[in-house]
Amino acid sequence: MGAMAKLAHRVIVTHQLPEEWIADLRDNCNALVGPPTSEVAGLSAELQRHLPSADGLLTLLTVKVDAELLKKAQNLRVVSQMAVGVDNIDLNACTQRGIPVGHTPGVLTDATADLAMLLLLAASRRLLETNRDAREGRWGTWQPERWLGADLAGKTLGIVGMGAIGQATARRAKAFGMNIIYTNRSPKPAAEREFDATRLKLDELLTVSDFVSLHTPLSAETRHLIDAAALAQMKPTAILINTARGPVVDTDALVAALRAGQIRAAGLDVTDPEPLPPNHALWSLDNCVIAPHIGSATENTRRKMAQLAVTNLLAGLRGERLPHCANPTVYEK
Ligand code: GLV
Repeated sequence: MGAMAKLAHRVIVTHQLPEEWIADLRDNCNALVGPPTSEVAGLSAELQRHLPSADGLLTLLTVKVDAELLKKAQNLRVVSQMAVGVDNIDLNACTQRGIPVGHTPGVLTDATADLAMLLLLAASRRLLETNRDAREGRWGTWQPERWLGADLAGKTLGIVGMGAIGQATARRAKAFGMNIIYTNRSPKPAAEREFDATRLKLDELLTVSDFVSLHTPLSAETRHLIDAAALAQMKPTAILINTARGPVVDTDALVAALRAGQIRAAGLDVTDPEPLPPNHALWSLDNCVIAPHIGSATENTRRKMAQLAVTNLLAGLRGERLPHCANPTVYEK
C-alpha cells in the first residue's frame, strides 16, 4: 500500500515526545498524544477513554500493556514500544490477538554499552564516593593509601546475556585489557572469536568473574537471577553492573551483600523499584553507584528510538511486517 490517507488511523502516543521525533506520525495519522511523563507514568485516564477507537499504540516502558488494556482496545492492530526491552508488555496476549509488538533494538546498543562501562569504571574507582568526600571538605593531602579502587586490565568480565549490548560492552572492556567470559542460552561463536571469550554456566561465571555485567531481558527465567545464592558465589572483590532491568537482581539480597562486603561494589542503571525512593537503603551505600535508568539517554539515541518506534507503528498500521518485531510468532498464525 502506498501513502496512507492522512488521519485515517487513530494512534495513541502514551506520552509527550519532542514533535520533531514523531513528525512522521503526525503527517500520517490522527495522533492523540498524552501528558508529559512527569505527570503520569502509565496511561492517562483521558487516553484510556480513547483506547476503544485506537488502531495503534506508541508506548513507553512505564506503561503496562496487559490483557486488561488490550480488552479495552478492541481495534488495536499494532503496539510500538520506544525501548528495546518489552517486559511491560504481555507479548502472549498481543500475539493471541494477532497484534505485532514493535521495539527498538540496535539504535541504543552503543549508548547502553557506554553506560555499562561508565558504571564499571565509576564503581571500580569509587568516583561518586571520592567526589562527595572532596566536595564536602574531606580532600586533605594526597594520600598514597587512600581511595584505592580496582584495576580493569587483566581482570575477568563475566557478561550475562551476550546479545548486542552484551557484545558492545565486551568490545569496550576488551579495549581496557579485560578478559571476557559469558553466559547465554545459545553459544555465540562470532563473539567467542572476537573477544576470545568462553561460554560458561552462570554458576561458574559468577565464581570466577572480577566483574559481572547483566545484559539479559527481564522474563520469568531471569527475575531474581542474581539472588542471595548467586551473590554468595561471587568473589568478595567482585563488582556487579546492571544496565538490564532492576528485577533481574534481588534488591534486598544486593543491599545485604554490599553491606556485608560479600561483593565489593555495584553499578546500577536500573533498580527495583524504579524510581528508587530517596530513602532507599541502596542510596546509603558508598559502594553502590546508581544512575536513574539513563542507558539510552543521549540526544541521538533517544531521537532514533522514537523514529524507529514511529517506523514500526506505521508499518503495523499499513499491515506490513514490523522492521523490529518483539513477537515474530504473530506472523506464523
Ligand atoms: C530501556 O531500558 C530499553 O529497554 O530500551
